Amino acid sequence: MQGFFQAVVSQYEAHETAVDVFKTGRGRAWSEHSSCCFCGTDRFFRPGYAANLVQSWIPALDGVEAKLKAGGKIADIGCGHGSSTVLLAQSYPNATVHGFDFHAPSIEEAKAKAKAAGVANVEFHTVAAKDFSGDGFDLACIFDALHDMGDPVGAATHIKQSLKPDGTFMVVEPLAGDSLGENLNVLSAIFYGFSTTICVPTSKSQEVGLALGAQAGEKRLTQVLNEAGFGNVRRATETPTNMVLEARA
Ligand SMILES: C[S@@+](CC[C@H](N)C(=O)[O-])C[C@H]1O[C@@H](n2cnc3c(N)ncnc32)[C@H](O)[C@@H]1O
Repeated sequence: MQGFFQAVVSQYEAHETAVDVFKTGRGRAWSEHSSCCFCGTDRFFRPGYAANLVQSWIPALDGVEAKLKAGGKIADIGCGHGSSTVLLAQSYPNATVHGFDFHAPSIEEAKAKAKAAGVANVEFHTVAAKDFSGDGFDLACIFDALHDMGDPVGAATHIKQSLKPDGTFMVVEPLAGDSLGENLNVLSAIFYGFSTTICVPTSKSQEVGLALGAQAGEKRLTQVLNEAGFGNVRRATETPTNMVLEARA
């Protein structure tokens, strides 16, 4: 929760530009927030990844855990400060993990985190989700970032092309129902609040500007993945705060 409060403070720091965002609808780039927002986001999500990613999310995907234990290639797109990326590299030492994010200061932080952890099987690149290079990935993941992207269909289409034919795309998104009525609870109030000041403006500031928002729901997210060419999408598992979607060709 300390990370959550840090992210709240970051919104007070950036409140002057928030007014302009509402008046103009121009959106607000991720990079326009204070660094407190990036640290707070990382600190807020990291315990959830530490508690669930290796223990329950990867095992819930069809055949992925065995591949990663043996080796394999992983892409973590929109990796931010790289907590999930470093965790994957530590947990699957035979795999090679690539972290991608278009926010250069976050990638610098991710590199420092990997160095401090002493992991050698990870590398980071500053690049947009639609533009990263490399192919033959066994697993591509996006943690709490697909809905922030301006063109999530374009990003998912690029990800599909970068995967092996039997590769898996794991999409971790905030837990939400498909309708506003299903989302009238405390958790959703928090997510809608951050969505309004951070996620929707971040998406709107990019090309396409689809603005899925942090409460998109499984139905809308599945539609995005289907449009990108993933014919098989299912909810592999969930926690009280996140849903984990498995997308395959
Ligand atoms: C809410 S943060 C999540 C970061 C990280 N995955 C985590 O769970 O801590 C969203 C991230 O998506 C990145 N992002 C947004 N749009 C992007 C795009 N089009 N290409 C690459 N990264 C993007 C932002 O820079 C930010 O690091």
